[in-house]
Amino acid sequence: MQAVLRPVSAEVGGALPNAIDPFALSLNENPFPPLPAVRSALIRSIDVANRYPEFLPERLRRVMAGHVGVRADQVVLGAGATGVITQALQALTSPGDTIVMASPTFDGYPILARMARLAPVTVPLDEHGHHDLDALADAAANARVVVVCRPHNPTGTLQSTAEIVNFLRRVPPATIVLLDEAYIEFAAAEHRIEALALIARFPNVLMVRTFSKAYGLAGLRIGYGLASAELTRTLWAHQQPFGIAITSLVAVVASYDAEDQLLQRIRQITAERRYLRMRLSAMGIYTTDSYANFVYLPSRGRLWRDEFAGSGLRIRFDADGGARISVGSRASTQAVLSAVGKTAAMTAS
Ligand SMILES: Cc1ncc(COP(=O)(O)O)c(C=O)c1O
Repeated sequence: MQAVLRPVSAEVGGALPNAIDPFALSLNENPFPPLPAVRSALIRSIDVANRYPEFLPERLRRVMAGHVGVRADQVVLGAGATGVITQALQALTSPGDTIVMASPTFDGYPILARMARLAPVTVPLDEHGHHDLDALADAAANARVVVVCRPHNPTGTLQSTAEIVNFLRRVPPATIVLLDEAYIEFAAAEHRIEALALIARFPNVLMVRTFSKAYGLAGLRIGYGLASAELTRTLWAHQQPFGIAITSLVAVVASYDAEDQLLQRIRQITAERRYLRMRLSAMGIYTTDSYANFVYLPSRGRLWRDEFAGSGLRIRFDADGGARISVGSRASTQAVLSAVGKTAAMTAS
């Protein structure tokens, strides 16, 4: 039988997500579409899409280094933080090596560990969603890689700088520490760890960051890593030729130029997070102390998946029964509160 051919454009048109869908709360995306200046820069780069980008992203590396305050040879690039982590595991590990991570954690880690054929060891979070850094350091003693997300996903919690430094002092120099800062821009300035000093002191640390979250460019796949030149030398040798799209350089430069507007959006998102947590708390619902653009509701005996069923909201539920909800617009917040409120009313009646 002959297959019915449909125009490809119809297929793709329907596949593009909606930039401002208030119900899309499962991927910790930014609820705002690109800033006008970033959008204009992107359009200019699309006009030269017949040309390759740089062979290796040297200019982007320099731009990022200048902005972050490190040297260019301390930066590596990837297709999102995911690309940087993949590249690091590929360059620095051998099949069968051990990788230590918290449980639960960003679900990319078990997947990427499997792809690199690593043996995962997991360390449970405490009851408030914090890392058990002592247990992680103990496990790291026999591992090739240990992962710490700061803020953590799915709980949004953040270990203090002093705790992280103490932890790093306990990890052997031959163990690579992936310090995942995918959400760090949502934490106040006093919680940031100064990259230049940290990588100078700990040459085994790779700080991983992304343009997918606070910068709101998840669809462009821009991530970067910061580490000692000793470590980046190995990673840069695995930098894919022509691997960073031509859109990346202009999007990053335009985003840095529009920093004030981005900060304004970040403030709006964190204010909305505080409001959502406060309203949930007033309804008797515990959420972990989140420093990111999402809130986490541990199960604590409640079946969140069932409670949100039928709400139309897309939320991430984990194997432990917890619910991770991205912070969106006020319409998103209201939809979440109304879903929880309905269940509360049903339980009471
Ligand atoms: C902790 C953490 N690290 C890394 C990533 C990957 O982000 P990217 O879009 O930059 O690949 C995510 C995405 O949700 C995340 O939560």
